Amino acid sequence: MTMQNDHRLLRGPLFTCLDDPGEDAVPLAGATRYLEDGAIWIVDGHIHAVEPFDALVDRLPPGIEIVDYRDKLMMPGFIDSHVHYVQLDIMASYGRELLDWLNDYTFPAECRFADAEHARAGAERFLDEMLRVGTTTAQVFCSSHPISVDSFFAAAQSRQLRMIAGKVLMDRHAPDALTDDTLGGVRDSERLIADWHGRDRLDYTLTPRFAPTSTREQLDAVGGVLRNAPDLYLQTHLSENRGEIAWVAELFPESRDYLDVYERHGLVGPRSTFAHGIHLNGEQRRRLAQGGANIAFCPTSNLFLGSGLMDRLACREAGLMTSLASDVGGGTSLSGLGTLQGAYQVGALLGQALTGWQGFYRLTLGNARALHLDDRIGSLQPGFEADIAVLDPRSTPLMARRLSQATTLSERLFAMMMLGDDRTVAATWANGRLVHQRDATAA
Ligand code: GUN
Ligand code: ZN
Repeated sequence: MTMQNDHRLLRGPLFTCLDDPGEDAVPLAGATRYLEDGAIWIVDGHIHAVEPFDALVDRLPPGIEIVDYRDKLMMPGFIDSHVHYVQLDIMASYGRELLDWLNDYTFPAECRFADAEHARAGAERFLDEMLRVGTTTAQVFCSSHPISVDSFFAAAQSRQLRMIAGKVLMDRHAPDALTDDTLGGVRDSERLIADWHGRDRLDYTLTPRFAPTSTREQLDAVGGVLRNAPDLYLQTHLSENRGEIAWVAELFPESRDYLDVYERHGLVGPRSTFAHGIHLNGEQRRRLAQGGANIAFCPTSNLFLGSGLMDRLACREAGLMTSLASDVGGGTSLSGLGTLQGAYQVGALLGQALTGWQGFYRLTLGNARALHLDDRIGSLQPGFEADIAVLDPRSTPLMARRLSQATTLSERLFAMMMLGDDRTVAATWANGRLVHQRDATAA
């Protein structure tokens, strides 16, 4: 390796998970790594070494750029397993439950993404916001318009981001402007797959919105695409709201429950993400676990729409993976830290409060595992892609004061998780490049 490669060193405290630290106050041995004066050596967008600075300093090529983050805390870039980029403009729209909220706010906002310029600007705005909160990877719902997907992938590609996205499929129970021709929508998805899936750092996720807005024929066709290309992802919604569940029972009387609708059409597999999954019983959780799927836990959305409290530990007991997600525009925060605050609050109400260890695991390696990306992102290890969130423990006077009172790493992580927001993210790196710097954008 010569200096013709692109070398860079980020120096400072760093925290990463190597495995699931468990739910206890003390993390499982070997699951976490913290270096007080650490260094991440980046070569050509990948992590080459992660070691104490002193152990690396003699091996560095002469003239290497060293970025000094000694008063910060470096972590893997955050991951959001379920978010709607086309709903940014309707975040915090007042007070409705799911089905009214969809009709009154969401569908009108998504109609605007038929326009190429609106989609292009919306994608750029969304990615600016993601990077401002340290999120470098997300699984994203676009709208039903193929142009919304092309625009999103083009914007993510030019920033060298790892992103998963898909075109919403709906062939009923939505405004005409958002409704597909049953098989035409699937053909549009196939064109988008051919153009974007596996290109650079981008992957495609089949996106039937939820059972009520697709006919059996459309769900069947989606299942067919997935069977032929099992490396594709699939995302949809499941058992979020009681009115929604009753509607699914009416629309699909042949199915024994909501999950069965997806099972019948071959949509429950290891690369399937089901958003919410609040109102499930133990048997349904086991069925999902058997399929290898994951539930995207979207706490701020569940609280905002009054959908219910997701029982994360019941999922764990059933062997069902959960991921962590903002679900913006239902969610009230795009920030992974904001999402963790919601997860803590939901957990507290269920007697299963989240530790800082488990919280940051979920936001990074846990989400990478749920999305089968844990050989590339979610941890600071040699060979991984260099996606990094740089947190500032003194981002506000209050946080600085609180952390000055904390005596252990456990306490510091927890206080940062509970008090943090976009101001906490001093910088974001993706593919070894600086893609957000707080002080630059604040000015
Ligand atoms: N169920 C179907 N569509 C949506 C959506 O856009 N947001 C949420 N939270 N739930 C849904
Ligand atoms: Zn959603």
